[in-house]
Amino acid sequence: MSQDELKQQVALAALQYIKPQLRPDAIIGVGTGSTANFFIDALAALKYDFKGAVASSEATAERLRGHGIEVFDLNEVSQLAVYVDGADEANRQLELIKGGGGALTREKVVASVAKMFVCIVDESKAVEMLGAFPLPVEVLPMARSSVARAITALGGQPIYRAGMLTDNGNIILDVHGLSISNAKEMENKLNNIVGVVTNGLFAQRSADVLLLATSEGVKTLTVINTPAGSGEFY
Ligand code: 5RP
Repeated sequence: MSQDELKQQVALAALQYIKPQLRPDAIIGVGTGSTANFFIDALAALKYDFKGAVASSEATAERLRGHGIEVFDLNEVSQLAVYVDGADEANRQLELIKGGGGALTREKVVASVAKMFVCIVDESKAVEMLGAFPLPVEVLPMARSSVARAITALGGQPIYRAGMLTDNGNIILDVHGLSISNAKEMENKLNNIVGVVTNGLFAQRSADVLLLATSEGVKTLTVINTPAGSGEFY
């Protein structure tokens, strides 16, 4: 099965997964990227079963509207029943690296107000340790060099994503060379650098459910807490 077929398969599985949350007054959060696009296209079939969506990027908003799904400003909405989005990497604790498409900040904001975060990935995104995928960090343009120096001091190698501005008018530094054994700590450290808007680690607010497309079908993964406090797939 090709990667696109896996993405499509997991998008369809997400639709089945969230179906019970759909009500005439429900507004759902929708992520950004090629997997999220497959989800949006599938969601169109159920557009009369819910009120509308909050988008995590301009591109997603445009695609939703193209299907006749109403897009709401997040400021009009107090809570989202569910947020569905892809990821660049996911570990066993359902902590994620996101932002390959540059939408990390809006994605993090939308995820933060969702009751449930359903992450949809193909098996190439499942990892033991986060960090092989360069970690995107959104930065105020004027702080590009100072933030890059601070990230280097933390042991990363930041590369400026040239020619790209986020929907918020900021730049992205992709940080190579990080082996992220404590994702929550790294998320906090990076967010504490003055000039960083946010970073692509979703560890403080990890996914609640990971739908993982494999050639044997889609697996549904959540985390159970062991006595030691660490999570495990089940
Ligand atoms: C965009 C993201 C995407 O979810 C992530 O990059 C995965 O993208 P794709 O589904 O195209 O592989 O975080 O900012």
